[in-house]
Amino acid sequence: MRGGILSGERNPLAHRPGLNPYCRVPQAHPDHGSCLAVSALPLHPPGELGPTPHPQTLALLPLPRKETEGQIVVSGDSGVAADGPFAVDLESGFLLVTRALDREEQAEYQLQASDGDAPGTANSDLRFHILNQAPPQPSADMFQLEPQLGALALSPEGSTSLDQALEGPYQLLVQVKDMGDQASGHQATATVDVSIVENTWVPLDPVHLAENLQVPYPHYIAQVHWSGGDVHYHLESQPLGPFDVDKEGKLYVTTELDREAQAEYLLQVRAQNTRGEDYAAEPLQLHVVVMDENDNVPVCPPRGPAISIPELSPPGTKVAELSVEDADAPGSPNSHIAYRLLSPEPEEGAEGRAFELDSTSGSVTLGAAPLQAGQNILLQVLVIDLGGAEGGLSSTCEIAVMITDINDHAPEFTASQIEPLSLPEDTEPGTLVTTLMATDADLEPAFRLMDFAIEAGDVEGTFGLDWEPSSDRVQLRLLKNLSYEAAPSHKLVVVVRSVAEPVGPDPGPGATVTVTVLVERVVPPLQLDQESYEASVPVSTPAGSLLLTIRPSDPMSSPLRFSLVNDSEGWLCIEEVSGEVHIARALQGAQPGDMYTVLVEAQDAVIVCRCNVEGQCMRKVGRMKGMPTKLSAVGILVGTLIAIGIFLILTFTHLTLTRKKDLDQPVDSVPLKAAV
Ligand SMILES: *[C@@H]1O[C@H](CO)[C@@H](O)[C@H](O)[C@H]1NC(C)=O
Ligand SMILES: *[C@@H]1O[C@H](CO)[C@@H](O)[C@H](O)[C@H]1NC(C)=O
Repeated sequence: MRGGILSGERNPLAHRPGLNPYCRVPQAHPDHGSCLAVSALPLHPPGELGPTPHPQTLALLPLPRKETEGQIVVSGDSGVAADGPFAVDLESGFLLVTRALDREEQAEYQLQASDGDAPGTANSDLRFHILNQAPPQPSADMFQLEPQLGALALSPEGSTSLDQALEGPYQLLVQVKDMGDQASGHQATATVDVSIVENTWVPLDPVHLAENLQVPYPHYIAQVHWSGGDVHYHLESQPLGPFDVDKEGKLYVTTELDREAQAEYLLQVRAQNTRGEDYAAEPLQLHVVVMDENDNVPVCPPRGPAISIPELSPPGTKVAELSVEDADAPGSPNSHIAYRLLSPEPEEGAEGRAFELDSTSGSVTLGAAPLQAGQNILLQVLVIDLGGAEGGLSSTCEIAVMITDINDHAPEFTASQIEPLSLPEDTEPGTLVTTLMATDADLEPAFRLMDFAIEAGDVEGTFGLDWEPSSDRVQLRLLKNLSYEAAPSHKLVVVVRSVAEPVGPDPGPGATVTVTVLVERVVPPLQLDQESYEASVPVSTPAGSLLLTIRPSDPMSSPLRFSLVNDSEGWLCIEEVSGEVHIARALQGAQPGDMYTVLVEAQDAVIVCRCNVEGQCMRKVGRMKGMPTKLSAVGILVGTLIAIGIFLILTFTHLTLTRKKDLDQPVDSVPLKAAV
C-alpha cells in the first residue's frame, strides 16, 4: 500500500469504545510547522456503539515550535531522521515527508517532537488550540483539543452528530504555543486530517458449525476486519478450541468438532499493533455453536437387582421408570427417546398385558393381566432416539421384576368332613386321636405358618392339639379320661389360621373342621360260671325236659342273650334270656355212649344297633335313668356285639335214671327228673 497513512502512538484513552482517531500525514502549512504524531485508527459512528463519552481524545499532537534557539529533534524507528522519509525544516519547523511511504516496507513510524527549552519552565509550557475546522458541517465544533496535553477529541456535539458527518475528511488547523497562557510566546500551526471511515469492527453473528463435519480443514468460518493498516489479529478461544485466524482476519476451525465434548465456544479476536497492543477497546466476539448430529446411541441404565412387586398389586402400580441417557443435544430429536416394550409379549387370550410402558416417559406400570407370586420376569424395552422415528439409534434395556408373595391365602384343611371317630372309654390320656392336615397356597414360608385351635366342643379341655411350628399337620390328642356316662360323644370344632397377618378375604369354611368323637362304653368281658357245660342224658329223655341253665358268673351283670349255634339235630333249645337249656324233641337216633356237642352263643344285650336307610347304623347311645333313649350320633356300626361261645356237651346213657352221683353234680349238671 502506498500512501501516507501512519499509525501513531496508542491513544491512552483508546480503550473507551468508539475512540478510534484517524489522522492523515500532516500537510505542510504555508506558514507554520508540521504535524508529527499521527494515527490510523477508524472512528466508530456513535450510532453503532452508543453515545460517545467526552471529551474524546483523538490524538496527541505535541507540535514542534518554530524557534531558532530551540532544537527540533526528530527521532524515529528508522533511527536517523535524515535517513527516513521524514525531515524537519529547521528553519520553519515543518515536518516533511521526503518520499512516498510504502506500508509493506514499514508499517509504522514513531516520531517525537519536543521543545528544546528547559522542561518545567514557561518556555516549554505549551498550549494547544483548534484554529479552524473545515468543513464546518454538521457543526463547526466537531472536535476539541485538550489545551495543555494536545489531546484531540470529538466534542460532545461532534460525538452526537458524527453520523451526519460528511463523507470526506475533516481538516483541522491546530496551533501550539509556549509560554503557557501568556499572550506572548512562540507558536506553530499544523493541519490534521481526520477521516471518518466505516467501522468494520462490528459484532459478528454466531456461527453454527455441525459436529463431525467432513470437510477439508482448516475450514473457513468467518472474517473480521479492522479498518486500518498494520493490524495483527489475535484469537483466543474460550474454552480452548481448534480455531485460528490468519493475517486477513479469516477465522478457521482446524479440525472436527464434537458437540458432546464442547457445545459452544466464545472466540475473541483482537486487532493489535506490532507491539501487541489492542487498537479496539474491546475484542470482537464470535459465538461458535456446535450443531448436534445424532451420533450418540441411547444408553440404558445398568441392570439393577430385580424390582419386587407384591402379587395382586392393582393395574397402574408403578414398577419402574427407565432413565435412558442420550448424549446428543438435549431437547433435540437426537436425544428424544421413545420407549417400546418388547417383552413380555401379551399372553394369548389374556386381557391386556401384564405390564404397560409409557412410550414417552419410559414409565413401566402394571397392566391388567394378573401375575403370579414367584414369577421372575425380564422386561425388555427398546429405546429409540429421534422420538422413535425411522433411522433413530436404539438400545434394548432390561428390567428384572420379581412378583413377591403376599399372605393372601388362608390355610385350609384338606378334608372338610372327618368321619366320626370312636374311642373306648378307657383310652389313655395322651393317645393320638387323629391327625388333621391343612394346606396354604401362599409361597412365602412365613405366610404358610399355621396356628391351630379347638374353637368349640371342648369346654372341659379333654382334647388337645399338638403341632410342629412349620408343619401343616396337627395331632388331636386325648388329654383326659373319657367318660361315656358324662359325655358319650364330643363334637370338636378345630380351626386353622395363618400365623402371619392375612391379607385379603376372610378364611372360608375350609379353615374349620368338625371332628366327632364317639365314646365307646367299655363293657366288662362276659364271664359265665363255667367254661363248658356237660350233662349225661338218657336217650329216652322226653321233650321239654330242663337240661341245665347257663348263667353269668356275676348275677348283677347286664343281661345276656343266649342262642344255639349248631344244634344240627334240633334236639335242644335255649331260653334266650334265662339261659335254660331244654330237650327240644325226642333224642331219636342217639345211642348210649354218644356225645353231642353244641356251641352256645352268649351275647351282651347293651349294645343295640339299628340300621337306617343308608345302611348306616343309628347307634343308640346311653340309656340314662329316667331319660328317653336318644340318638346322638350318626356313624357306621361301631364295635361288634360282644359274644362268647360256650360248649354244651351231652353224653347219652341207657339208664332211665342217672347215677345217684350225678345228682351231686354242680348246679349246671341238672338231674333229669323227667326221665324217671
Ligand atoms: C383315669 O383312668 C385311669 C384308669 O381307668 C385311672 O387309673 C385314673 O385314676 C383316671 N384318672 C382320673 C383323673 O380320673
Ligand atoms: C358244633 O360245633 C362244635 C365246635 O365247632 C363241634 O365240636 C361240634 O361237633 C358241633 N356239633 C354239631 C352237632 O355239629
